[in-house]
Amino acid sequence: MLLYVIYLLWIVRGFVLGQSTNDSDTNINRDYPNYYQPHINYGEAYTQLLQPFPSWLAEITGMNHWPADIPPYIATDTVDLDAVPGHIPRRSLGDCSKVDRSMCAFDCYRCTAVDDIYTCPVLSQTFDDGPSPSTPKLLSQLSSKTTFFTQGINVVRFPETFRQANHEGHLLATHTWSHADLTSLRNEDIAAQIQWSIWAMNATAGVVPKYFRPPYGALDDRVRAITRQFGLVAVFWDRDTFDWRVNDGSKTESEVLSDIRQWKRERNHGLILEHDSTIKTVNVGVKVGDILGSRQMTVADCVNGNWYQQQYAVQ
Ligand SMILES: *[C@@H]1O[C@H](CO)[C@@H](O)[C@H](O)[C@H]1NC(C)=O
Ligand SMILES: [Zn+2]
Repeated sequence: MLLYVIYLLWIVRGFVLGQSTNDSDTNINRDYPNYYQPHINYGEAYTQLLQPFPSWLAEITGMNHWPADIPPYIATDTVDLDAVPGHIPRRSLGDCSKVDRSMCAFDCYRCTAVDDIYTCPVLSQTFDDGPSPSTPKLLSQLSSKTTFFTQGINVVRFPETFRQANHEGHLLATHTWSHADLTSLRNEDIAAQIQWSIWAMNATAGVVPKYFRPPYGALDDRVRAITRQFGLVAVFWDRDTFDWRVNDGSKTESEVLSDIRQWKRERNHGLILEHDSTIKTVNVGVKVGDILGSRQMTVADCVNGNWYQQQYAVQ
């Protein structure tokens, strides 16, 4: 309880001080493109979208199969794209030249809106980009409940792994359909990335997510105006492991682990960004879990919130 009160005070302080999440208030894209994780391809063996396409979704979409990388926008009466502000431009990753502070771009100014989440009262891991062929190893070795920000296309590619994560008590959240930089897309394509990711999660495990992490942290008030209409809360991080750099050797496992030990010593709270996309990042995740132990929180528990918007029984 006391922890929670301290946490609320911390949030209120954030509002008063103008919504900058931590130390650096500067443009965090200055080392673009090295800042961003390259795209990961699982190869020929994993091109099949195994999760069956449900009849309720055929009814809504008029389709009979899951989309490929670029999903089509299906208009529904729950989303009104005319309500999205028109003055915030589309832009490419790392280009903040047309972005001013009023647009509240996390990727340019680390700006967070009042309803965004970026930290946690207990230092806790989160994993992006899965499920992947390496996720089962993480599930078998983690002692804490954690949060997975999944790509819809990977949910229908690895449906058993997604259901296993659900059964084992982890929180499932969305990371778009196919890892799009949402700030570069038209409103319709943003909505499509979100709606298909939600449908994939609902079809596969009966969960309608409440939490959403924008790929690359690329989020501004135009994108928020759409994601909020889907009932989603944006989630960032305040501790970045850059674990994906272990894939190409530009960061070592022991460097990541020493960051973790330092964060634990420094204040022992926060949200850690990791990835369950490769065996190397999963191996790091397991060791981070050994250091932090089982007393971690899911993102929903960090804010004492609901885990999902809806849950359905699926056979
Ligand atoms: C979730 O799936 C159920 C069927 O199990 C369906 O009736 C419902 O409309 C779906 N909701 C969303 C938001 O996808
Ligand atoms: Zn990602």
